[in-house]
Amino acid sequence: MKPRRLDELLASCGYTSRREVKNWIRAGRVRVRGQKPASASIKADPGEVLIDGEPVDHPGVLLVLMHKPAGYVCSHDDREGPRVYDLLPPRWQARNPSLNTVGRLDKDTTGALLLTDDGTLVHAWTHPKRKVEKHYLVDLAHPLDPTLIGFFAAGDLVLEGETTPCRPARLEILGDTRARLVLTEGKYHQVRRMFAAVGNEVLRLHRECFGPCSIAHLLPGQFETINPTGPREEPPGNGAATA
Ligand code: URA
Repeated sequence: MKPRRLDELLASCGYTSRREVKNWIRAGRVRVRGQKPASASIKADPGEVLIDGEPVDHPGVLLVLMHKPAGYVCSHDDREGPRVYDLLPPRWQARNPSLNTVGRLDKDTTGALLLTDDGTLVHAWTHPKRKVEKHYLVDLAHPLDPTLIGFFAAGDLVLEGETTPCRPARLEILGDTRARLVLTEGKYHQVRRMFAAVGNEVLRLHRECFGPCSIAHLLPGQFETINPTGPREEPPGNGAATA
């Protein structure tokens, strides 16, 4: 790994402030290749640093897959309700650059949510050109009309307030009022607005997967780290399971 200043490394990984690192060193909490470092400004390979006897917690990019529970917001503003960030370890919440959600799910929506501290990854996972599939399980207020399959697939639906139509979307009817909708874009409240546009109402919305990342093995509120790659580079192997 690329050498980094100890004070910058510990502060960016959420351990403490840059200024405090010298006190951590003095207290013997930081080791580099088994030795007490001479100062907080020396550069070290993060893989050779131990903090309180433990390797540095994700010194590189962090990509987290969470099963978002209902009632949590993707905003950083806690006036909007409990935040998905509150479910993460405090050290991750103190990282700088901070963790951000890759797109957003509504407060009442459950399911697959990615979070990362890397802007390039946000772009890679959300850019419409990448056509990353997101699968939504939808419960509706009114029975589904099978003609909707062709209508959503045609890519003609222009939502209220928009100028460009929604991309073609795949609708699978699973029951009278239950369907799976597969989107490759993420307009604001898109699923709810698509069904509202055809006179229906979404009662429950669950995202089963974001590209190759399924949360079927995670309970609501649980999360895990995955390989910090874009959606196409390699399958999202498991990092350290953390929830
Ligand atoms: N579409 C919505 O309407 N809400 C979500 O949370 C996600 C997609």
